[in-house]
Amino acid sequence: MKFFIDTANLDQIKEAQDMGILDGVTTNPSLMAKEGITGHENIINHYKAICEIVDGDVSAEVIATDFEGMIREGEALAKLHPQIVVKVPMIKDGIKAIKYFSDKGIKTNCTLVFSAGQALLAAKAGATYVSPFIGRLDDVSTDGLGLIQEIRLIYDNYGFETQILAASVRHTMHIIDCAKIGADVMTGPLKAIDGLLNHPLTDIGLAKFLEDFKKGN
Ligand code: E4P
Repeated sequence: MKFFIDTANLDQIKEAQDMGILDGVTTNPSLMAKEGITGHENIINHYKAICEIVDGDVSAEVIATDFEGMIREGEALAKLHPQIVVKVPMIKDGIKAIKYFSDKGIKTNCTLVFSAGQALLAAKAGATYVSPFIGRLDDVSTDGLGLIQEIRLIYDNYGFETQILAASVRHTMHIIDCAKIGADVMTGPLKAIDGLLNHPLTDIGLAKFLEDFKKGN
């Protein structure tokens, strides 16, 4: 499973990249605003800065919601850097735009996916990634991981190449469960990734090894 970090914070992106386990980055307008990145030029420069830090795919979201606008913005974003993936919302014009980009060899991430039917449409349109938001489904008493399972089954039934990018990952167990189900990618915060490191027996064992080493030296 690929690990993407879900942030626009450059320090956190660098930290994950330095660990050597990072495969890409996802951003959205809310994550940009959280870092105080506003205005077209600043946002564009921020995407470029992220691409300089990581080796993998970097999702950059279109703001337009009409077909022509999405095409215009998406083509400009794709030209910024070869690692840019154009993030397109799951609406009818978005599906048309994904098909257009797919035919032109531009990578896409279909975002704001909350049902198996939406994921099926994204795959039919040729999306590179589909992003089901598992945390937001959990927030409304709906089984987010169950949706990943449904999409996995549907994509495997027909050999769709669209990669399931589990998004809105909130905690460490989400990552482990996504890996068990067979999500192709997960995108989550650094805290959830760091949580994978933790086990008290590791800490106790390491402390004991160091203590015993000192006894013999
Ligand atoms: C990523 O592509 C999504 O925009 C993101 O994971 C949403 O996460 P949230 O539900 O925690 O805002």
